[in-house]
Amino acid sequence: MDRSEGKFYLTTPIYYVNARPHLGHTYTTLACDAIARRQRALGVDTFFLTGTDEHGQKIERSANAAGKSPQQFTDEVAGEYKQLWDRLGITYDKFIRTTSEEHKRGVQAMFTLLKERGYIYKATYSGQYCVFDELYVDVDTPGAPCPDCGRPTETVKEENYFFKLSALEDQLLKLYTETPNFIRPETRRNEVIAFVRSGLKDLSISRTTFKWGIPVPDDPGHVIYVWLDALCNYITAIGYGSPDKKDQQQYARYWPADLHMIGKEIVRFHCVYWPAFLIAAGLPLPKQIVAHGWLLFEESKMSKSRGNIVRAETILDVLGADAMRYFLLREIVFGQDGSFSFDALVQRYNSDLANGLGNLASRTLSMITRYFDGAVPAPPKQSSEAATAIKQQAESVIEGFGAKFADYDFSGALRDAWSLIATVDGYIAEMAPWKLTGEEDRAKLSEILYTCAESLRVVIALAYPILPDSTARIWSQLGLGDIAKFELRSLKWGQLSAGTKLGKVEGVFPRADKSAIERMQQMEQERNTPAAPAATSNENTPATPAAQSAQPAIPAPAPVAGSGTITIDDFMKVELRVGQVKTAEKVEKADKLLKLTVDIGTEVRTIVAGIAKAYDPEKLIGRKVVIVANLAPRKLRGIESQGMIVAASFGEEGVPALASFLEEVPVGARLK
Ligand code: MSP
Repeated sequence: MDRSEGKFYLTTPIYYVNARPHLGHTYTTLACDAIARRQRALGVDTFFLTGTDEHGQKIERSANAAGKSPQQFTDEVAGEYKQLWDRLGITYDKFIRTTSEEHKRGVQAMFTLLKERGYIYKATYSGQYCVFDELYVDVDTPGAPCPDCGRPTETVKEENYFFKLSALEDQLLKLYTETPNFIRPETRRNEVIAFVRSGLKDLSISRTTFKWGIPVPDDPGHVIYVWLDALCNYITAIGYGSPDKKDQQQYARYWPADLHMIGKEIVRFHCVYWPAFLIAAGLPLPKQIVAHGWLLFEESKMSKSRGNIVRAETILDVLGADAMRYFLLREIVFGQDGSFSFDALVQRYNSDLANGLGNLASRTLSMITRYFDGAVPAPPKQSSEAATAIKQQAESVIEGFGAKFADYDFSGALRDAWSLIATVDGYIAEMAPWKLTGEEDRAKLSEILYTCAESLRVVIALAYPILPDSTARIWSQLGLGDIAKFELRSLKWGQLSAGTKLGKVEGVFPRADKSAIERMQQMEQERNTPAAPAATSNENTPATPAAQSAQPAIPAPAPVAGSGTITIDDFMKVELRVGQVKTAEKVEKADKLLKLTVDIGTEVRTIVAGIAKAYDPEKLIGRKVVIVANLAPRKLRGIESQGMIVAASFGEEGVPALASFLEEVPVGARLK
């Protein structure tokens, strides 16, 4: 993968916008970002593409279910992806959306070209369709489960455009044989070869049963099959189909792609259909397709439909982007499935980042500050045996890291770099530099601290693509300026100049304790509590008298049969939290109701409360209140109330008195 000249064009899959991003999507994007950063550090002209896949029946249905137009819905989710990538420091050069005009134009151009070259024909087709996988499947019985995902299929009879996939069998097999690295890893390559050898049928590439797609040129009753649409993003994003000269130059510069990185479930689309479309169109083929394994959580593939997702934001909020980037690329052997757990994440963070890299940095830098007035000491002319051994290990790490990284073995590359940290830790313990304070020990102390600082610099230079933020900070603490400007290709032992003045030294990875795990677990639980409107079906339901009074009291949990009491578990089902009122106003034509917005720490909720007779809205602003945070949302006077305020209710009129605190309590704190 490392190139000394030329260009490097790499892509992630484009993500479906039927659901919000989770850690599984983040994994692919992070791996690509690390590769893109390393290529740039090596001085290679790099183009990194990502984006969103926004057409198709699945997305149309998700938008309908959310009560939104497909465009509004896709705009929102695409925005969430962009926001997350920004927080994670993803250095993509372009974010393609399949609903953009440039993409639509390019896909239509591709369709026309395939037709002109005789690879497209029209025929009637009847078969079982899996909406989830957006694919006709090889089953006969109506409603039979999809062999890939197990969901029930739908019977579809349509006049479709077909692509002559069957005509390309031999050319595909020739491609796999002549370019053994076209598909990585080997296991996926073998699966693809077996699939193609078993015979290819022509592929239906248009749909008439829904509208949310790109119209077939000159036949707008048909929309183009979503996978043909989606795969073309890799060329439309860099200018294919554009009349603009600059776009055409960009396409000529970067196509073919050097790397399509994908998850293993979409191998067939990328390794069979995509090269087939390109061969038929007479366009160059991508150089390599690499399929990684799945991130598992609670023993199965992390996915929205299985309901076992973890959000990247939770980890970002508690441990930061670098911790997540490091964990995913170090813990999981690339290509294989790997499990995620909060325990393993925190353990890795503490052992490798807080105690490993962070500790080496703070010890080395603080000793240089203390013993050498903050300037890197000079190494002796004649190296000791121990220092020479470290130098040799560092040199072999520099060499091996590049080779492993180029082979997508991120975990192995990091393991080697961290073994240098372990060696240096052992060296410090053995040399005990803090005891060498006499003038006669000066040369020895210089050598030790130079060796530590130089090892630190080597590890940081190598780890930068994976840990961009923390390595940049340590690099500048080492007095070396902007790490992004460092030319990785030139990295070798001994470049650190004696006399380099250290920058301001500060810790980079504070230790995480058990509460970090609990915090993340709790945040996930809260994020999975349906705070958002589940459906709009109750929009026009008239408010019941009970709802109108919105009585501010906790509904009594069901008693344990026969005892009249509840268990602590029953009580803990009610999530009581401290909130702070941000705004308050009367609800029109409802003399008991106030509409409040309340900050509960993780978000601001709208809450409608029946307290208007007892409280002036102005006086409530800034007040800390107790809210039931996990109550299903409900509509009151057309306003969705996303929780309930807790109050005592007394007298015949049921006068409310808000629960409050004498002590200062933080917003978001849980009551238990
Ligand atoms: N839209 C298609 C891809 C079209 S590319 C021309 C699609 N989208 S997806 O959102 O369902 O998944 C895209 C990618 O997300 C997967 O290929 C994979 O890279 C990544 N992952 C989603 N869940 C994942 C895990 N649990 N684990 C690892 N990667 C996962 O398919």
